[in-house]
Amino acid sequence: MNQEKTIEEYMSAAAGIISGRNKPMTACVHSYGCQLNFSDGEKIKGMLLKMGCVLTDKPEDAGIVIFNTCAVRENAEDRVFGNLGYIKHYKEKNPEMIICLCGCMASLEHVVEKINRSYKYVDIVFSSSALDKFPKLLLEKLTGEKHIFDTNEYDMPVEGLEQARDSRFKASVPIMFGCNNFCTYCIVPYVRGRERSRRPEDIISEVKNLAASGYKEIMLLGQNVNSYGRDLPDGVDFPGLLELINEIEGDFIIRFMSSHPKDAGKKLIDTIIRCEKAGKHLHLPVQSGSNDILEKMNRKYTIEKYMETIDYARSIIPDFSFTTDIIVGFPNESDEDFEQTLELMKAVKYDNIYSFIYSKRSGTKAAEMEDRISDEEKSRRMTKLLALQREISTESYKRFIGRTMRVLVDGKGKREGTMTGKSGEFIIVEFEGDESLEGSFVNVKITGAKNWAVTGKIIN
Ligand code: 5AD
Ligand code: SF4
Repeated sequence: MNQEKTIEEYMSAAAGIISGRNKPMTACVHSYGCQLNFSDGEKIKGMLLKMGCVLTDKPEDAGIVIFNTCAVRENAEDRVFGNLGYIKHYKEKNPEMIICLCGCMASLEHVVEKINRSYKYVDIVFSSSALDKFPKLLLEKLTGEKHIFDTNEYDMPVEGLEQARDSRFKASVPIMFGCNNFCTYCIVPYVRGRERSRRPEDIISEVKNLAASGYKEIMLLGQNVNSYGRDLPDGVDFPGLLELINEIEGDFIIRFMSSHPKDAGKKLIDTIIRCEKAGKHLHLPVQSGSNDILEKMNRKYTIEKYMETIDYARSIIPDFSFTTDIIVGFPNESDEDFEQTLELMKAVKYDNIYSFIYSKRSGTKAAEMEDRISDEEKSRRMTKLLALQREISTESYKRFIGRTMRVLVDGKGKREGTMTGKSGEFIIVEFEGDESLEGSFVNVKITGAKNWAVTGKIIN
């Protein structure tokens, strides 16, 4: 019987072929969409490095080009097909170029059909859950196979895949994969499968290594981190995991994304407040301020229940920071529904929002709902919502004036001689400083507020 090789064996076989070439094999990975997908992209880069490739940002020059795609909104899908069309010209000049498409789009039947029909020059297609099959698929391609597809759903990626991290001080750590919620607008449960949690000991050991190597921000990732552990026998839930990570030695901040409001309650808030390493911030995607729309979205909470969590946090820490996701123009969202979203924004005073015009995804329930709202009306609502958020941010950022914030420095600011970073509350802070500060914590005394950041001076 043909024995399956381990991933290490496939990587070393591929490395053998790649090192035997007369010139180095360059590889370019383009990731789209959410942070989980970028984290997958870093794992792909890690595998490529192990197989002896040299990474480049320029797809035109690369021997291997990988599009790690997102399926959440239609325009991201269109962009990928546009990029595939663009790269075709380079493959015509360099027929040895290997083109791969992976990520969420690779799990959509119509995408796979379209690739088979009209993009025959794409060499390898694999789904997010087939990530660790990549070395095997690449080896097959290098040894002469034509088109290779693996869009099966697998349980869990193997542990121990090293991520080639884009940052030397901020690290994302997936704690679970998939989603069980089936919000009616969302394609994720169809492309990333059901919820699977990583074992707590694997997560802890990864975070310990990251902290020991000097990482200053650990971002825990999952589609709904609050359901972490429900599929595990050990009884560790998300607050429990936060506590365990908080005990790890080192000076780092813990962040996480995303929390589903139906599962985020007092226990989560108490844990964030108790864990001194956790940022005093919660990203709590509300999607809409209308109970009618929330029901049509299958979100399983009401605005009243949502506000209980906000009010509870603010009863302990009055300026606890909240950010959210909002969808504008869900099928048949009325003027009144939209007004309720604006009212909610005023009531919560979000520090930031990520807003999206509803994008129809075939295969989801909402795609079958009738929609009489015009595109112009949706854009008008979006403009109004963004203007309101700018007002809210400018006003609410003033609460930090006079305070000292501990800031992890990200990089250069927009103005000459300035740097920016993020506070524990996930607020952008701009101050005078130089690049030597990048990746370190500084204390900044806040003296001003803009609509996108607070400003101040470093104190020792
Ligand atoms: N259209 C618009 N926005 C969407 N999101 C998810 N699906 C869609 C869609 N079909 C948004 C939600 C989610 C965020 C990651 O993307 O707001 O929280
Ligand atoms: Fe999509 Fe809802 Fe799951 Fe988030 S919780 S990934 S919006 S189905």
